[in-house]
Amino acid sequence: MIPRTSVHGEWSTRLAFILAATGSAVGLGNIWRFPYMAGENGGGAFVIVYLLCVLLIGLPIMMSEVLTGRRGRRNPMDSLKAVAEDEGRSTIWQYAGAMGIITGVLILSFYSVVAGWALAYVPNAARGLFAGMTEIQSEMMFDRLTANPWVLLGWHTLFMAMTVAVTIRGVRHGLEKAVRILMPALFVLLLVMVGYAMQIGDFEQAVEFLFRPDFAALGTNGVLAAMGQAFFTLSLGMGAIMIYGSYLPSKASIPGSAVAIALTDTLVAVLAGLAIFPIVFGSLLEPSAGPGLVFMTLPLAFGQMPYGSFFATVFFVLLVFGAWTSAISLMEPIVTWLVERVNLSRVSASLLAGGGIWLLGIGSVLSFNLWSEATLFDRTFFGMLDDLTANIMLPLGGLLIALFAGWVVSRQVSAEELEGAPAWVYPAWRFVIRYITPVAVLAIFLNAIGVFQN
Ligand code: TRP
Repeated sequence: MIPRTSVHGEWSTRLAFILAATGSAVGLGNIWRFPYMAGENGGGAFVIVYLLCVLLIGLPIMMSEVLTGRRGRRNPMDSLKAVAEDEGRSTIWQYAGAMGIITGVLILSFYSVVAGWALAYVPNAARGLFAGMTEIQSEMMFDRLTANPWVLLGWHTLFMAMTVAVTIRGVRHGLEKAVRILMPALFVLLLVMVGYAMQIGDFEQAVEFLFRPDFAALGTNGVLAAMGQAFFTLSLGMGAIMIYGSYLPSKASIPGSAVAIALTDTLVAVLAGLAIFPIVFGSLLEPSAGPGLVFMTLPLAFGQMPYGSFFATVFFVLLVFGAWTSAISLMEPIVTWLVERVNLSRVSASLLAGGGIWLLGIGSVLSFNLWSEATLFDRTFFGMLDDLTANIMLPLGGLLIALFAGWVVSRQVSAEELEGAPAWVYPAWRFVIRYITPVAVLAIFLNAIGVFQN
């Protein structure tokens, strides 16, 4: 068989892939979502379940996505279809890819609105508005921003325009260089924040909160939320990593790349937690403050720091970049699908997808103001989308990808794709992806709907 190639080209090196995939993984999920989810679900026990999910569910599924993408060399739907056909199996598997593409659209619609908050905080920081601010003032700044639909819409529009501008040109251009510089910068700045939070906040209580498990505080929904967070933060379950895998040169080793990406991502999330919770416990803010948590805590710290306005500006610029490189990966599956299946040009595909996502995002914009009282199951439109995608659609997509890579893809093919690692890695991966990962995802689902309760 002649190996397929992607019409969109290849990464120049394995490092380019690692950087792009790390850019996808590291974003608002680490710095915005992880702390607020950990805070809402009681801390330590959530963190432990999340770390276990990264290891036993996330890592093997990441390898599965990359191998399927590289074998298929197309958008997630057609990669699954092509690989299933190679194996002489049913092409019904392609619908797992279709669901993933839709999941990406749904996620980006609210992700862009939150990225808009980060954009809005750049000028706030640069103008020195954080200087000497109190908890109340910090909360008021966030509430004032989210209360204004027009302002939110403006930032959401800008962020979607930035994302479309990149997917129009193709993701392989510029992404590598941007990530190579900005990711280490974000990392260093987070370290500075942790160091500063240690001094001014209650570091001991933060460590206790994040790492001392209290399983009573977790509950069944907390377990599901921890798994959802693992999928969300690693960009798994919808084909984002699969599409990046479809541009990976054939020779590059997959397992080592997956470990590097997952480790970096986890480290950034833990650092974000260690920067934010000392400030929470050293102030009047509550860990369970919800989606605004990061935006209310960090400005407080910047406001007291020497050169705080400068550091704050750099931080929010880097956060925007993190969100940007993630958003691009959420867009790429739908854009390549439109190019490959509907025969649109990259420009039309990007504009069409971006326009649709922008429109859908208006629902999330309004969730924080005009529609804040319009709830279903106690959730706003935004809360509904966040919950549905992260806790149901991504794990379901991940489950299907695990079953596909473990049971549909032949041993010969997966072994060939996962070459280049120590000898024990392949059998370990194969055992985990066939038996452990699917059972774990299913058990957490069943647990959440109350099957194991008596
Ligand atoms: N992982 C990114 C973050 O943590 C968000 C993201 C990018 C994502 N691509 C994804 C989430 C695909 C789920 C699926 O910010």
